[in-house]
Amino acid sequence: MASPLELVRPTSALEWSYRSHVAELVERGEPFIPFPVGFELGDFPALLKKLDDGSRGIGLPEGFVPNTTYWLVRNGSEVVGVSNLRHALTPKLLREGGHIGYGIRPSARGQHLGTGILRLTLKEAAALGLKEVLVTCDKSNTASARVILGNGGVLDSEVFVEERGAFVQRYWIRGLGQT
Ligand SMILES: CC(C)(COP(=O)(O)OP(=O)(O)OC[C@H]1O[C@@H](n2cnc3c(N)ncnc32)[C@H](O)[C@@H]1OP(=O)(O)O)[C@@H](O)C(=O)NCCC(=O)NCCS
Repeated sequence: MASPLELVRPTSALEWSYRSHVAELVERGEPFIPFPVGFELGDFPALLKKLDDGSRGIGLPEGFVPNTTYWLVRNGSEVVGVSNLRHALTPKLLREGGHIGYGIRPSARGQHLGTGILRLTLKEAAALGLKEVLVTCDKSNTASARVILGNGGVLDSEVFVEERGAFVQRYWIRGLGQT
């Protein structure tokens, strides 16, 4: 039996559930978080290749580092979240953006899935050899801050990000792979 909550690499087997995840965001006019959720869906095999290429550092836009996208899957069939793990930090990501971005399907929020997707993505970060990761969120994003704190995040600093016109909190999660 499939475990209730798994983190998987994007797969054609979950195409329609992933499409409905994105459709919920579009319906609600929400931003695409993490950024690969905004990738063109028309040609699904091409999307899967683009995501796989991104993980291998192939065809990335200028200034991007290799990054791996994961889907959070409930009961083996329902995509309920997406995360993106940056393999390294650039000066820009060090300031805001961090190693990991994540989002939960709107209709599935408030069930601790946000906490779960970050927990599972931290395991992938540890498997990649990272010992500590930076996770950032808008200061006004209380739910995301609680997700980070719930995963052992320690607030390092708050910076004002001109382009966003907002304060961003920077948290470090240390000691990966030690539990
Ligand atoms: C942020 C986000 C991932 C949280 O996902 P979620 O599954 O709803 O979060 P959880 O259910 O794990 O809740 C985590 C904590 O936040 C609290 N919380 C949830 N929604 C909240 C809200 N709207 N306001 C305040 N606190 C909230 C929960 O009570 C919980 O607190 P606890 O750990 O003390 O029990 C989700 O709201 C989302 O996808 N937002 C849009 C994308 C985004 O902002 N991503 C983060 C970018 S940094």
